[in-house]
Amino acid sequence: MRVLLTGGAGYIGSHTAVVLAERGHEVVIVDDYSNAHPEAVRRVAEIVGKAVPMVEADLANQKAAAQAFTDAAAALGGELDAVIHFAGLKAVGESVAQPTRYYRTNINSTLNVLDQMRAHSINRLVFSSSATVYGDPETNPIAETQQVGVGLTNPYGWSKAMNEQIIRDAAVVQKGFRAVLLRYFNPVGAHESGRIGEDPSGIPNNLMPFVAQVAVGKREQLSVFGSSYPTPDGTGVRDYIHVMDLAEGHAAALEAAGEGVAEYNLGSGKGSSVLEVVAAFEQASGRPVPYQIVDARPGDVAECVADPRKANAELNWQTTRSLADACADSWRWQSQNPNGYAKDGEVTA
Ligand code: NAD
Ligand code: WQD
Repeated sequence: MRVLLTGGAGYIGSHTAVVLAERGHEVVIVDDYSNAHPEAVRRVAEIVGKAVPMVEADLANQKAAAQAFTDAAAALGGELDAVIHFAGLKAVGESVAQPTRYYRTNINSTLNVLDQMRAHSINRLVFSSSATVYGDPETNPIAETQQVGVGLTNPYGWSKAMNEQIIRDAAVVQKGFRAVLLRYFNPVGAHESGRIGEDPSGIPNNLMPFVAQVAVGKREQLSVFGSSYPTPDGTGVRDYIHVMDLAEGHAAALEAAGEGVAEYNLGSGKGSSVLEVVAAFEQASGRPVPYQIVDARPGDVAECVADPRKANAELNWQTTRSLADACADSWRWQSQNPNGYAKDGEVTA
C-alpha cells in the first residue's frame, strides 16, 4: 500500500515507517518538525535501505494540508491507499497550560486529514489514540468496552476522545471507509539498531526517557511521583509496550482494517511499577539510577494496564518484546546518541 504517515518523523511514526517499509509498503511522511528532526527520517531510510520521501507541512492549516496530500501522492507516484495519523501535540502538562493550542493542533489536523482523505477517496485510516481516553479506569486490565471520555483531567486526553468521535462521525459519510483507533498504553524502547529512538526536547515528561537520561549522566536523579498508591510497592503501575511491538501493531491494523470503525488497545497486558522500571533499566545499562520519592503528580492514576485480547484475536498481533528488551534498546539509543538527533551530540558508528 502507499501509506502517508502524518507526524511520521516523530517517535512512534519513525519506528512504524521502518516496519511498514520492511513489509513492502511505500511510505511518505508529512511532518512540520515541531517535535521532531528530519535526521530521524534520514536514519529510517538508512535502516530500510531505501529513500523515504518527506513533505514539510503544518497539517492544522487547511491549505497546507491540501497541498501536503497532493505532494505526498506525487512523491510516491500514485494516489495514496492509507493514512496513519500520528501528528499532534502530546505533552499532558503542557496541554493544561496551553489548552487552545492543543485543541487547535490536535482537532484541526484531524479535521483536515479527514477532509483530504475524502477529497482523494482514501479509505483507510489508522489513528493514534491513547489509553488516556479511559481516564481513571473502573477496573484493570482495561478492555475496550470500558467507558471512554468520562472525567478526563486534561485537554490532551479530551482531544484524543474528541478525535475518536470525529472519526466515527466522518466514517458514516464516506462510503467504504475503514478506520482503526489504536489506544496505546505506554510506548517505550527504541529500534534495536540504536539509530532511532525517543528524542524529547527539554526535560522529559515520561518515565523511561527520564530514567535513560539519569543513567547516561545527563540528569542527577529521578523523582518518583508518589509511593502510597494501592499497588504492590506503592508506586504507579503502567503497561509499558516496546515501540517496535507498537509499530508492528500499526502494520497489522492497516492490513486487517475492516469496513467501519474499530478500536483496539495496544499494550502488553502486563503491569510494571516505577521501581520495577528503574531496576530493569539499571540491569540493562549497568548504571545506577538514583531516585527520590516525591509527591504524586496531579492527574496520575494508580494503575493502567491493557487487556490486549481484542487486538491479539482480530489483528493477529501480539507483543513479543519484554520490558528488559525495551530498557536494553532504549539504553543503546541513549548511550549512542546522548543528545538525540542533534548534530553536535552525534556519535557516529
Ligand atoms: P511525537 O511528538 O514524537 O510525534 C508527533 C509528530 O507530529 C512529531 O513529529 C511532530 O513534529 C508532528 N506534528 C505535531 N504537530 C504537527 C502538525 N500540526 N503538522 C504536522 N506534524 C505535526 O509523538 P509520538 O510519541 O510519536 O506520538 C505519536 C502520536 O501518538 C501522537 O498523536 C500522540 O498523542 C500519540 N500517543 C503517544 C503516546 C506516547 O506516550 N508517546 C501514547 C499514546 C498516544
Ligand atoms: C509513568 C509512571 C508516573 C515520570 C502518559 C500520558 C498518556 C500517554 C503516555 C499519550 C507514572 C511515573 C513519571 C517521572 C515518575 N501519552 N513517573 N517520575 O503518565 O502513564 O502516561 O504518557 O497519550 O496519555 O498521560 O506516563 O511515563 O509520564 O509515567 O515517577 O519523572 O511513571 O507517575 O506512574 P503516564 P509517564
